[in-house]
Amino acid sequence: MKYSPRPYWTEVAERIQARGLRNFLAGDDTPFYRYQRSRFLEEFRKINFRDKSVLEVGCGPGGNLEVIHSANPKRLVGCDISQKMIDLATQNLKSILPDVELILTDGVTLPFEDESMDIACTVTVLHHNTDEEMLVRLMREICRVTREKVFLFESTSNKIKAGESTITRPIGHYQTIMGEYGFKLTEVKYISVFFSRLTSAVITRLMSLRKRKEGEPIPSMVIACQRACLPLTRLLDRCFTGQRGLTKMLFEQKA
Ligand SMILES: C[S@@+](CC[C@H](N)C(=O)[O-])C[C@H]1O[C@@H](n2cnc3c(N)ncnc32)[C@H](O)[C@@H]1O
Repeated sequence: MKYSPRPYWTEVAERIQARGLRNFLAGDDTPFYRYQRSRFLEEFRKINFRDKSVLEVGCGPGGNLEVIHSANPKRLVGCDISQKMIDLATQNLKSILPDVELILTDGVTLPFEDESMDIACTVTVLHHNTDEEMLVRLMREICRVTREKVFLFESTSNKIKAGESTITRPIGHYQTIMGEYGFKLTEVKYISVFFSRLTSAVITRLMSLRKRKEGEPIPSMVIACQRACLPLTRLLDRCFTGQRGLTKMLFEQKA
């Protein structure tokens, strides 16, 4: 069946829910993805959200919204194309819910006034928008509703590489689209997890007896082997930083 974000992520949300509440990994729960999320959070926590109106597009189960909330934003909104993801975020964020607006979107339009948000961000969302027209329409909307800064945390590569549900694009691709809608690239940082990703992918491929669906339980041997390799590979990740993989891109409104 052809990949389409809404049904795909709704099914993933059902599998995440089966793992129990407050599991914020918006896909597979493996030692590698936990590590990658911790590396991402190191960078994400440096952003100054205090007293800002903040929008996360593609908020999934709500883990990033919880982090933003702890920084005391003025207004906090999460939106997602999947109602099931919104439901998960609603359950996960129950204790802070009066402070967080959660909104279902159609994937291409954002129901907010022009420049009504100081900051907008996406975290591993656009690289799951494989349809170029959908990507451009969504990015135009993100630029329309944002006054100051847009943070994109997406996988990038030196040329376009398309998979079933993922597409990695060069930074320049995002830069061109954002430029057309009035934002310039002011910072790039690679969150290098190259060796860990490679090792974990090889382990998963060699040890998985059948093709799994994203978010399904992982064989315990895969978990044990990934865990055993991570102490070494995470050291290598810090020593050799390749220019690809999960990338922080900061765009600011042109003067
Ligand atoms: C890999 S998950 C990431 C979730 C969250 N950002 C995080 O880091 O935990 C991707 C999320 O983006 C949502 N999504 C994908 N395409 C979208 C779109 N065009 N508009 C809004 N949400 C979208 C999916 O439903 C899913 O919840």
